[in-house]
Amino acid sequence: MIKTIKVQDLAVGMYIMLPISWFKHPFLKNEFTIKSQDQIDKIIDHGITEIVIDTEKGDRSDAHPTGSPARVPPKTWSPEKLVPPELREAIHDQSLPPEKKSRLVYESSRVLVERLFEDPRTENIREAKKSISEIVDLIIADDATSRELLKITSYDFYTYTHSVNVGVFSVLLAKSVFKGSDAHNMHELGAGFFLHDIGKVRIDPAIINKRGKLTEEEMYNIKSHPYQGYKILKETNQLTEECMIIVMQHHERENGSGYPKMLKGDQIHTYGRICCIADVYDALTSDRSYQQKLNTFEALKLMKETLVSHFHQELFNKFVFLFTQ
Ligand SMILES: [Fe+2]
Ligand SMILES: [Fe+2]
Repeated sequence: MIKTIKVQDLAVGMYIMLPISWFKHPFLKNEFTIKSQDQIDKIIDHGITEIVIDTEKGDRSDAHPTGSPARVPPKTWSPEKLVPPELREAIHDQSLPPEKKSRLVYESSRVLVERLFEDPRTENIREAKKSISEIVDLIIADDATSRELLKITSYDFYTYTHSVNVGVFSVLLAKSVFKGSDAHNMHELGAGFFLHDIGKVRIDPAIINKRGKLTEEEMYNIKSHPYQGYKILKETNQLTEECMIIVMQHHERENGSGYPKMLKGDQIHTYGRICCIADVYDALTSDRSYQQKLNTFEALKLMKETLVSHFHQELFNKFVFLFTQ
């Protein structure tokens, strides 16, 4: 039966139909079965108040009242199922116009990152790396699609879209900085950029999703994600040491105010500096519950005027230049 309910009554297991256009919500499809409390939160965050559900399609066997913790068993992904087929299809379809291609690559990359973060075992990291390499090749070879990718800023600030955004921005900046030099393995670099926040899988989601001010202990916990990410990649042995530095250093700041090691200036690797600029830019231009998102101009202005001491100047100037082309 089709019926309309209040979003407060949504529960895991319900089959929903979103009332807004595909371009305006952060999900891959307009209709799907709710799998987690996180998805319900996203729907509420998008200002939706009522929603249509199909009770025949929705399996509510594991439904729970809204507000109580979602008890969804951890998801596992076999390496063969990890990469959405649309990702490869979109990358290799020469007939797709850049706008459509970039949108498909973006959405399917987000799904890939989401699955990887749900099950970050060695085989899956290896599989994800192959796809990230293809995305990197696309960004390097196809300027028209890259330009469109740059325009797709996410509608929200969830770890998966954020990972893809930071991956895309960082690869574009690295492409401009290294200009085809053989000294840098762009595939490895791309993997480091896309996976820079993988350590968040080891942080309690209640802390990551907390709306209010974090306690000192919670902050300490969050700030361990660069090290946790480094540990995951080290254990799975899937990235070179140089690219694992990206994960470890993406929150360090040029003036020494970052974490975890409060490194300064040249103590921070160029790869870490690139990721830091992309990370801050994406945080400023994405919707977060406690902050209105800025447009490109406002974000770059704030980074230049207020946060200037946080970034490597030459790299930052090159980053700004990406948006003026
Ligand atoms: Fe981070
Ligand atoms: Fe990040």
